[in-house]
Amino acid sequence: MRNKFLFLTPFLFHAIFSFGQSKENFIFATMETENAFFLQKNHADSIDLISSKDNLSAIYFHPATAENLHGKFAHGHGYVFRNSKENALQSLQEKPSQKKASFNYTISEQAFITTALNDVDVKEIEKTILMLEGFKTRYHTRQEANNAVLKLKEVWEKMIADAGRTDVFVRIVDHVNTPMKSLILTFNGIEKKDEFVIIGGHADSTVGWNANQTFAPGADDNASGIATITEVLRVLLKNNFKPQRTTEIMAYAAEEIGLVGSKEIAQKYASENKNVIGYVQFDMTNYKGSTKDVILMTDTYCDANLNSFLMKLMDEYNKTGLHQFTYDTSKCGYGCSDHASWSENGYPATLPFESKIGEDNPNIHTTGDTYAFMGSTSTHAAKFTKLGIEYVVEAAKTSTLGTNDIDKNSSRIYISNKILSYQLNFKSPISINIIDAIGRMIKIMNSENANGSVNLSNLSAGFYIATINDNQGNSISHKFVLK
Ligand code: BES
Ligand code: ZN
Repeated sequence: MRNKFLFLTPFLFHAIFSFGQSKENFIFATMETENAFFLQKNHADSIDLISSKDNLSAIYFHPATAENLHGKFAHGHGYVFRNSKENALQSLQEKPSQKKASFNYTISEQAFITTALNDVDVKEIEKTILMLEGFKTRYHTRQEANNAVLKLKEVWEKMIADAGRTDVFVRIVDHVNTPMKSLILTFNGIEKKDEFVIIGGHADSTVGWNANQTFAPGADDNASGIATITEVLRVLLKNNFKPQRTTEIMAYAAEEIGLVGSKEIAQKYASENKNVIGYVQFDMTNYKGSTKDVILMTDTYCDANLNSFLMKLMDEYNKTGLHQFTYDTSKCGYGCSDHASWSENGYPATLPFESKIGEDNPNIHTTGDTYAFMGSTSTHAAKFTKLGIEYVVEAAKTSTLGTNDIDKNSSRIYISNKILSYQLNFKSPISINIIDAIGRMIKIMNSENANGSVNLSNLSAGFYIATINDNQGNSISHKFVLK
């Protein structure tokens, strides 16, 4: 955690020297062994080392002690909160993200996604960031934090009502380790109700350790992430999104004090044996600090297969054109946000982040984390919204592709920017015929490939029908208009 040190020095000074006697406000946590040793050596009164395994240690300590690691990190507290000694010890045994077989993600929803991306609206993102910043503080113990969560619930529910949907629900989640509440929105899956695709972000904010945080605007950390997922929701509803897998959007309580809200939720999902096929966290999306736009974290808490799916999505949808942006990778160095709660419970999870580590917003966790500091624009967060839509739509669909049966329903023809693309579940070779409105054959092409594209930029404006056949009697047609 950065920049707090100066403001809080008197408080910490007092705090650290009074902890020796009592162990008031101590918490269980895990931390890198090297850092735990450092604290034990220099601040023995404020930390008990419980157990170490390789480079991770279970500790019982006062969280303010972590301030003494300042400078050892590019950012971050450098620890992960654990709700009990058992939990701290147990997490030494966990291998994040390795409990389940890799999920086989595919890309096929170009028709839906290319239209939906056009609906992403920076002004809508701005509205949500300013609404949340307007609560002045969302520190987890403050009443304002729950007021903000209830307001967000209202915003989500209004979007659902405006879309005329009676099949999408929002629920409040109460927690054990914080008075703040979390929010979960659910689109029930049509075909695979018990498989979950989830995106989320934390709704709380912080500027330091004192409990009386009356001003913690948290515009980038993390009103931006909540605004990002809220815009994903608005666009999905506008496009009448009806997922095959159950799709959920989550706004968590109390991330800033140790991933508290997400941890309780992910633990509950794991204890109920829920099958979460992928979790994507949006935490800090609106400060453009690096040359590249979306930075995928590649820590052990981040699933490599899920990361490679997100990269494929960006290759497919964001390489050129109106929705173009770039990506790169970086490392947090530890479980820096709520995705870690999911990966620790055995689910594939990741964090697409606003910049490379070290180039991120210098004002987070200070009173200067405002929308104004980010230039009063939401163009950066809009890229994450697009990635969020692409992820949710492609991960929540199901298809029978991958079996040996030919399924015409999983073959697709779609048109975008005068390019006809096709993905067929036919046996090649295939033939592609384009017929105009008065029935004239305009183009006939043969291909050895069941997937590909045809440039139609030399055709004049008008109605057309594309028909693709293989030599086994399979056929698919698509009517379209060129403007
Ligand atoms: N948004 C931050 C995480 C972050 C900050 C990631 C800077 C990358 C760069 C998050 O809200 C946060 O502050 N996390 C804590 C850790 C958590 C376990 C309490 C942190 O990094 O201090
Ligand atoms: Zn934070």
